[in-house]
Amino acid sequence: MNPKTGVPKSSCVDALPVRLAPPLFTTRPRHPRGSLWVRVAALLLVLAAPAAQAAPAFEDSIAQRTQACTACHGEQGRAGPDGYYPRLAGKPAAYLYHQLLNFREGRRHYGLMTRMVDMLSDAYLWEIAQHFAALQVPYAPPAPWARPPEAAVLARGRELALHGNPTTRLPACVQCHGQKLTGVLPAVPGLLGLPADYLTAQLGGWRTGERRAHAPDCMASVVRRLSDRDAHAVVVWLASQPVPTDAHPAPGRPDTAPNAPDLRCGVAALPGGARP
Ligand code: HEC
Ligand code: HEC
Repeated sequence: MNPKTGVPKSSCVDALPVRLAPPLFTTRPRHPRGSLWVRVAALLLVLAAPAAQAAPAFEDSIAQRTQACTACHGEQGRAGPDGYYPRLAGKPAAYLYHQLLNFREGRRHYGLMTRMVDMLSDAYLWEIAQHFAALQVPYAPPAPWARPPEAAVLARGRELALHGNPTTRLPACVQCHGQKLTGVLPAVPGLLGLPADYLTAQLGGWRTGERRAHAPDCMASVVRRLSDRDAHAVVVWLASQPVPTDAHPAPGRPDTAPNAPDLRCGVAALPGGARP
């Protein structure tokens, strides 16, 4: 990869960021489809093309214009087949919008994503975010483990997700991600239906500073309060849970004890200045 432009040499595989992570946080699986980059490059033109330049038969809908995205993120943004390209469908709109800003403004790094969103206005990014947030497509059941996780690891992961860790003042994951862990409006994503590799890479990204969120970056603080073993346990437990039939994000956070540890999370204003 050209480190200046982030442009991959031949395929998406070359565009994988180098992850200077502790041993637990390894890189993600390699993507087998070498021709993807070519398809995406062609589709990029569609994303950027104003309607007037399109051929007469071209249907100028947001679904058409985001085909460049679904080439990687799967049909209707339901995720790529191998755990590398995350799901977009049904995630809270302001969460998706934050991520598009994060790629554009260098708080997250993936060369090709950044180049795409560089060209697009805030208002267009918000429209794209709302489009994917509104798509409700089913989740696949959790992938079977090559080696089933130990019961003690699962129990530890469950404890951390549902109750946190008073010793390190780690808030429970459910406190922000919702009692059912399907996310909380407007800007907290769900944690179920995500492959273990993706979860591990994201926590590792916060640990190394490769992934950041709007300040105050509460997830960076969460990760500082998790040991490597505990991060592993919580990922294993989360990735073993089925997604409930109603996977909509919750309208608000669950009630918590008044003295429970908590952290503030940053948000970005929406185009036009409204708070999400
Ligand atoms: C070449 C493949 C590729 C293309 C094309 C692509 N993405 Fe991505 N996208 C990725 C990868 C890989 C990640 C995860 C990167 C990481 O781990 O930080 C990602 C992450 C994201 C995320 C964050 C998801 C989350 O849950 O945190 C959003 C939102 C997103 N992409 C939206 C888009 C949109 C919108 C488009 C079209 C304009 C697009 N992507 C095009 C590969 C792609
Ligand atoms: C204080 C609130 C808070 C707590 C507690 C919290 N999170 Fe988060 N989490 C967030 C927010 C906000 C985001 C979105 C950050 C962004 O905009 O990038 C997030 C994002 C994530 C993501 C990225 C998801 C994706 O699709 O890319 C993962 C993984 C995650 N959290 C895991 C956890 C785990 C595991 C726990 C419990 C150990 C936890 N979080 C506890 C607020 C919280």
